[in-house]
Amino acid sequence: MYVRGAADGDLRAIAKIALANDDGDGADPRYVAHLRAHGRFLVAATDGTVEGYGAVRHLGGLTLLCDLFVDPARHGGGTGRRLLDAAFDADGERSTFASRDPRAMSLYVRYGMVPRWPLLYLEGPPSFDGPAGGGGQAEAVPAAVAAAAERELNGRDRSADYAFWAATPGSTGLLVRDGHAVAAAGIAGSDRLFHLVTADGADPVATLRAALATFTAARVRLCLPGPHPALPSLLDARWRIEDADQHMSSRPDLLRPTDVLSSSLA
Ligand SMILES: CC(C)(COP(=O)(O)OP(=O)(O)OC[C@H]1O[C@@H](n2cnc3c(N)ncnc32)[C@H](O)[C@@H]1OP(=O)(O)O)[C@@H](O)C(=O)NCCC(=O)NCCS
Repeated sequence: MYVRGAADGDLRAIAKIALANDDGDGADPRYVAHLRAHGRFLVAATDGTVEGYGAVRHLGGLTLLCDLFVDPARHGGGTGRRLLDAAFDADGERSTFASRDPRAMSLYVRYGMVPRWPLLYLEGPPSFDGPAGGGGQAEAVPAAVAAAAERELNGRDRSADYAFWAATPGSTGLLVRDGHAVAAAGIAGSDRLFHLVTADGADPVATLRAALATFTAARVRLCLPGPHPALPSLLDARWRIEDADQHMSSRPDLLRPTDVLSSSLA
């Protein structure tokens, strides 16, 4: 078995492995192209047959493991470990969202990551009651404007990811303002809040409420860290937990549990 960068000719095999593991991302050529262009997309192969793949994205000094999938016929055969050896070939901080497959967490712990909190896949109506300090109004802005605002808030250049999310039909960048100050920046599709970063000192419940108020869809999906302070109010408003991954990281403060995060790209 050897590990190499994914090539155009691997797309079908990658999609087949993704679908066999009930994952949609790897079957989306646009997603694979995004990570090939802005991260590293690796395949493990034996005699020319692709048996698994893994992808990482570098966010500043952080290596985010976005994907790790192996042909189900080969689960438990060491392919995941070989891919991780190649994906984490440098020092630096590491982070990922582990699935419920115990092999995933078992491996990630041994690559220096500690389970931190669940990332909940939620679905519900785009409004909720409950306590909120301050107000904040969300406005639709070009994705590049929202990306620049996020960079001001947390120093991370996510413009390539914003451009990727913005290519989804019906999507728009979002800015939540409280007076003149930017309280949050993010991006939404027609029925999905992809990503929302709240400024230090702003109320993440208020910024989430403001962002959700921009939706016209009856039901919305988002991924919320379990410790996010809006979770009790969302569940009171009959939001539903559809799934959960486990956030793991080499340091506890790499991702903030007050942000709305995308499941693979953070
Ligand atoms: C998770 C996955 C990528 C791992 O790849 P893999 O090739 O099956 O994994 P490996 O054989 O390299 O390693 C699995 C490790 O888990 C260990 N393991 C297996 N079951 C375990 C359990 N119940 N508890 C603890 N460890 C366990 C194995 O002993 C092995 O560790 P070792 O190398 O020290 O012996 C693969 O199983 C997969 O595609 N799963 C389904 C999709 C998925 O959930 N992907 C993860 C997305 S975050």
